[in-house]
Amino acid sequence: MELRKGLEDIAIKETSITYIDGELGRLYYRGYSIFDLASFSNFEEVAYLLWYGKLPTRHELDDFKSRLAEERSISEDISTFVKRTAKFGNPMDILRTTVSMMGLEDRSEGDLIGKAIKMTAKIPTIISLIQRTRRNQEFVEPDPSLSHSENFLYMIRGERPSPSDTRVLDVSLMLHMDHEMNASTMACLVVASTLSDIYSSVVAGISALKGPLHGGANSEALKQFMEIETPDNVEKYVMNKLSSGQRLMGFGHRIYKTMDPRAKILKEYANQLSKNEEIKRLFEIANRVEEIGIKILGKRGIYPNVDFYSGLVFYAMGFDPDLFPTIFASARVIGWTAHVDEYLKDNKLIRPKAIYVGDLGKRYVPIEER
Ligand code: SDX
Repeated sequence: MELRKGLEDIAIKETSITYIDGELGRLYYRGYSIFDLASFSNFEEVAYLLWYGKLPTRHELDDFKSRLAEERSISEDISTFVKRTAKFGNPMDILRTTVSMMGLEDRSEGDLIGKAIKMTAKIPTIISLIQRTRRNQEFVEPDPSLSHSENFLYMIRGERPSPSDTRVLDVSLMLHMDHEMNASTMACLVVASTLSDIYSSVVAGISALKGPLHGGANSEALKQFMEIETPDNVEKYVMNKLSSGQRLMGFGHRIYKTMDPRAKILKEYANQLSKNEEIKRLFEIANRVEEIGIKILGKRGIYPNVDFYSGLVFYAMGFDPDLFPTIFASARVIGWTAHVDEYLKDNKLIRPKAIYVGDLGKRYVPIEER
């Protein structure tokens, strides 16, 4: 039996949802290049594509959009819980708990995707309520007449966003929707493989995504740029960080051995959003970190990943930095549930082994003799 730490290069299932070319830095959802989807598609259409395996007709998309929009409101209990915890709780802990509450409240026998639609529609409302509560701002009720991303920014800002801001969030969320068998998707599958429920699966996914090696890296990457303060400090900061054995957050990937294609697209948006002095300076710093980081780490196949620029984009759009992993989760819930749905069609309980290296046959010693 072979030990494969981190299950590196081990396939857990076949999939037709997402393909990653780690050498060439390419990503495909249901066979469509992420670059095409980022240029021509939108959040609702890509969510439909991932869940149902095909691009919707106009009629199917309109139906789907209203199904999502109708599910945006949250219960009194969830709203009270969020208001009570928003000022001190870790947003991913609040999200994990409120998704668990959704599971308790959802008595429907609905299909898995139906429940996934509910979670996808409600998570932005929860994220907005966390931020508005912290800022002592009134809760903004979701507006069913707006698209998913437009409504998300509306609930965060309390006013209608510009079409260009809506587009930036829409594409950023699309880029985060799925990534094949990442750690949080695997966590969802382990739970689903015991035939537990989809809410429990998503709670496991949120729990895994929270970690700084995974979805927590986006706020860590921005924190780096803020700590550096000016572009002239970058070289010294990066050298100190790497020589002390620490990791450059937003760099490196288990599969990509070149620039993450999502980072390329997010970099363009970060540049587009670099209007005010602070964002412009942070973007310049990020660019320098990218350049120096690649110079040092590139030869080992360590390049910027999706989290390197995403934090800068979310920050420029007005989200609090510690909310970034929840924004990641608000999109990844689609990939998590699509993979669970696919896996359950040919389910097998996920139960690997361990190689025993301890003692055997030891004699029990009564406590008086120890
Ligand atoms: C995401 O899996 C997915 O698809 C994830 C994701 C998705 O969409 O779901 O793409 C989202 O999580 C992106 C990754 C975000 N995390 C970070 O940015 C945190 C920093 N990155 C690393 O910790 C690391 O690159 C990982 C965790 C992302 C990947 O690590 P691996 O594949 O397990 O590789 P490893 O930790 O064993 O590192 C191999 C070597 C080590 O050096 P040695 O011990 O062999 O000398 O590469 C070095 C590491 O020290 N290394 C880094 C580094 N990443 C790896 N050195 C410095 N800086 C880094 N960022």
